[in-house]
Amino acid sequence: MSVSTAAAAPSVCAPLPVLGRDVTVPLVTGGEVTYAALDYAASAPALQRVWDDVAAYAPYYGSVHRGAGYLSQLSTDLFENARRTVARFLDCRETDQVVFTRSTTDSLNLLAAALPAGCRVFVFETEHHASLLPWRDAEVTYLDAPRTPRQAVETLERALADRDPYGPALVCVTGASNVTGELWPVRELAAAAHAHGARIVLDAAQLAPHHPVSVRDLDVDWVAFSGHKLYAPFGSGVLAGRADWLREAEPYLAGGGASRKVTRRADGGVDVEWHDSAARHEAGSPNVIGAYAIASACQALTEAGFEDLVARERYLIDTVRAGLAQVPEVKVLSLFGDDAPRVGVISFVVEGWNSSHFAAALSAEYGIGVRDGLFCAHPLVRTLLGSDPQTQGECGAPEAAPGEKSLNAIRVSFGAGTPDEHVERFLTAVKELVRDGARWNYRTEDGRCVPDTSAAAA
Ligand SMILES: Cc1ncc(COP(=O)(O)O)c(C=O)c1O
Repeated sequence: MSVSTAAAAPSVCAPLPVLGRDVTVPLVTGGEVTYAALDYAASAPALQRVWDDVAAYAPYYGSVHRGAGYLSQLSTDLFENARRTVARFLDCRETDQVVFTRSTTDSLNLLAAALPAGCRVFVFETEHHASLLPWRDAEVTYLDAPRTPRQAVETLERALADRDPYGPALVCVTGASNVTGELWPVRELAAAAHAHGARIVLDAAQLAPHHPVSVRDLDVDWVAFSGHKLYAPFGSGVLAGRADWLREAEPYLAGGGASRKVTRRADGGVDVEWHDSAARHEAGSPNVIGAYAIASACQALTEAGFEDLVARERYLIDTVRAGLAQVPEVKVLSLFGDDAPRVGVISFVVEGWNSSHFAAALSAEYGIGVRDGLFCAHPLVRTLLGSDPQTQGECGAPEAAPGEKSLNAIRVSFGAGTPDEHVERFLTAVKELVRDGARWNYRTEDGRCVPDTSAAAA
């Protein structure tokens, strides 16, 4: 399969080896193909290097912060070294804390639970739900979707200027959109926040796997990301940044590991002294494999030359965008326009197609895994589609007629492990599906669009 592409192949670097690169999947039309994982924005495949590091450590696995044995000591060292590796990867300040969590969602919920009393939160409606929703106990100002990065900064400045300048405030912003892949003006938003006495947390779930992140350079107060999007799928995430709010807050979870000293009082109750360090918010036995896997991924990206990986990804982005631009029926979703810098996350709709149907055909007929839906960013996708907030597309629903608005979208996303062939196959598939239609019948099962294997081919 081949397509004509606008950009020339770069000689920068090869894709990094990932697990699953040789996995084959059956096609509903017959035969098998290697699986093209083009849903990195949901969960990226594990780097082979991460898997190898974890496998090499596994026999030495032991308890962390609780054990006198050799393997406990070794595991504790590994866990604490992982913290230092992550701090270096994020270019943290000396005084910053790195807390290991379960995910970005967990990290932002932790921070939400650590807000000082009376804290106001400012968040754009365009955020992923993980950034939009955790601030339930705070007074939240939801900011309208900006149409340019400059407008984002101006919108934030106006909102911050209207607040009590002496109370605590937090801005939460994504580094790269999980819908459009577009980069947000984080440094400028951080400057605006600080100029108005507010703090800022960066949701780097989609940025950190695609782009070096420097806490110092961006001057953000906290950063959150997930291991499973950074090629380290072992159930860990990170919240890194300023220690003060974290130190002053009640522990996120109460229990062993977070407590330094627990004593029985004369009145029968208990007194607890909590740790001031990151351990305060890491109660329970830590996920040492998850933390070690994240550190391994950070090392691997750094050693591979992150800038080279960025350059290669830019080539893939240009290739996909140029290929999609050749199909008039395809509309790519964008907030900031064609020239906006972006990571390898691209959402689109196809005129005359239900997005779930299109994504199902990419999978069943081409072995390509993408995502369809509203991507846990319902307000943003509905704004971009111009659709009614109350409605949602279904595979079983009639396909959108030409000119009709789609109710959900298709997202293709890729990264350091993506070979050229995957994006080439994707572009060929899009062109063939639009030109010839699906070769199979599909139906809805448990809310998913699936090939109808009881029927003959379409
Ligand atoms: C921008 C963004 N923030 C936060 C999250 C939540 O990440 P997790 O599901 O790992 O908690 C996601 C997940 O897709 C995301 O894309």
